[in-house]
Amino acid sequence: MKFFLCLSVAVLAVAVSAAEDKKDATATERPKTFRRLIPADVLRDFPGVCFASTRCATVEPGQTWELSPFCGRSTCVKPEGEETGHLLELVEDCGPLPKPNPKCKLSEKTNKTASFPDCCPIFECEAGATLEYPEIPTVAPPSAEKKDAKA
Ligand SMILES: *[C@@H]1O[C@H](CO)[C@@H](O)[C@H](O)[C@H]1NC(C)=O
Repeated sequence: MKFFLCLSVAVLAVAVSAAEDKKDATATERPKTFRRLIPADVLRDFPGVCFASTRCATVEPGQTWELSPFCGRSTCVKPEGEETGHLLELVEDCGPLPKPNPKCKLSEKTNKTASFPDCCPIFECEAGATLEYPEIPTVAPPSAEKKDAKA
């Protein structure tokens, strides 16, 4: 695994441990993760496997890879009963950022170099303040996909 964005986070490491024991004093938003299915990248010369562009490598169906330097994870998915070789990529990431809120700040506990989902941003809000997240449709798991297909 290669990390390209580690410099600024390492500097914060000392300050984080000092704040650790106040963990329950402020409402800490646990990172939620979001999933979506997209058509997989497939190379002409490597049919039947997904192409992981962030790693420049092929990945077998059922295998997972980290999307670093982005915070996310992808899985190569071969749809059940699909013989034509149309592979899918299940992308998991931290979802949309919350709407800006002056009473909330990005926590120093956020660790962008950790592996997914631990790299997702953690926000801390003043008492009484809550973050609003934009509504996005949640993606059905691969097995439910066929039932909902509109085309
Ligand atoms: C962030 O995560 C990486 C990988 O798990 C770990 O090596 C590092 O110590 C963490 N940094 C902080 C500040 O917790």
